Amino acid sequence: MPQFPAGFTWGVATAAYQIEGAVAEDGRGDSVWDTFCRQPGAIRDGHTGDVAADHYHRWPADLELMSQLGIDAYRFSIAWPRVQPAGQGPANDRGLDFYDRLTDALLARGITPVPTLFHWDLPQPLEDQGGWLARETAYRFADYAALAAQRLADRIPLWITLNEPFVVMASGYAIGRHAPGRTLMLGALPAAHHQLLGHGLATAALRSAGVRQVAITNNYAPAWPASAAAADVAAASAFDALQNRLFTDPVLLGAYPDLSAFGIGGDGPGWVRDGDLALISARIDALGVNYYAPARLSAQPDAPLPFRREPIPGYPVTAFGWPVVPAGLREMLLLLRERYSERLPPVYITENGCSTDDLVAADGTVADQPRIRYLDGHLRALHEAITAGVDVRGYLTWSLIDNFEWAEGYNQRFGLVHVDFGTQQRTPKASFGWYRDLIAAQRAGAGRRH
Ligand code: FCB
Repeated sequence: MPQFPAGFTWGVATAAYQIEGAVAEDGRGDSVWDTFCRQPGAIRDGHTGDVAADHYHRWPADLELMSQLGIDAYRFSIAWPRVQPAGQGPANDRGLDFYDRLTDALLARGITPVPTLFHWDLPQPLEDQGGWLARETAYRFADYAALAAQRLADRIPLWITLNEPFVVMASGYAIGRHAPGRTLMLGALPAAHHQLLGHGLATAALRSAGVRQVAITNNYAPAWPASAAAADVAAASAFDALQNRLFTDPVLLGAYPDLSAFGIGGDGPGWVRDGDLALISARIDALGVNYYAPARLSAQPDAPLPFRREPIPGYPVTAFGWPVVPAGLREMLLLLRERYSERLPPVYITENGCSTDDLVAADGTVADQPRIRYLDGHLRALHEAITAGVDVRGYLTWSLIDNFEWAEGYNQRFGLVHVDFGTQQRTPKASFGWYRDLIAAQRAGAGRRH
């Protein structure tokens, strides 16, 4: 592996609902995911996050795994319904206590905590009042951000507001594959603006509470037309506007992208009020980039959405069926730099990884060589992007441990560490040792050069 710049941050990422379990403990309220998991047929095999990887009780063991890896930073998410069980009102101290202990324990091990405030677990009472379709939710989010920061900002430099607002809008409100399970198609677009407004209001609240660095995490996918036909090229550019620009242009450029492919006129979306874009485009200090795979699009005339996703033949696929295309990461990073030039803040890769069909062998090993190949390829592509001039400061792989993979339940394993969900036994996979050795070698190499 080529040498990454000195000071480059190595880490792992997780999210609260996917690992914590303990959904009724210490005053936690229901989130939209608790509700969604109870709907028959919503989650594969009827799985729920009730127990997940039991991280709420086993976090000391999970921190020990992080120390063994030798990571610099740990990205986790704070569960809003632990902090405000009803989505508003005063803080539930017992909920914040958990993240307070976690923060101190991470710092004691020399690991920088990187919290995400919203990784999809909206308090159910707020959904009952319209969820992200309601403008009020943006203000509630800022109140929650302030409560979390008042408790933790003294020890945590970099905060991430939202994780993948595109997926919340698209999977949660447009097609209903994720909580809250709404199927509004283009009627989901207000959930984009209200999340962005929430990001802007939360950014201000975090800064008032003394937070030094604020970021937003989006998932990006290079949009490849299925053919050179003009209709397919237009379909790819419509997809690009929705997935890659809708949650980035307003933040970095202070303007919405061209949404005419979705019947939204040049005056901008009707739900934007005076002053909103100024709030949304307040300076951020880093951009979180999640990357898994590119998207290939064909035209879909006379349908609610003008594009259809097509398979990408010719590449290996993960257990999820996602194509493994490391060059897409470089392509996307170069595109971001070209698009936003000096307005692009330093980038952190806040998620990248793959699911594999991992089994613990009789000798206690987990041979996940496809994951090693995936990570190796993507890190090389990332290094090429850095060499080409993109300012990338860190890489946090998804994920530390196997976890609740949303609509797929426990059927997709993304961890460097295998979890037996019957016994909660943790077993480091081959990729765990590979990543540990890579981090150690990178650190030694950086030391040699300075
Ligand atoms: C991302 C999510 C993360 C995880 C990975 C596989 O979209 O942010 O929670 O589920 O996909």
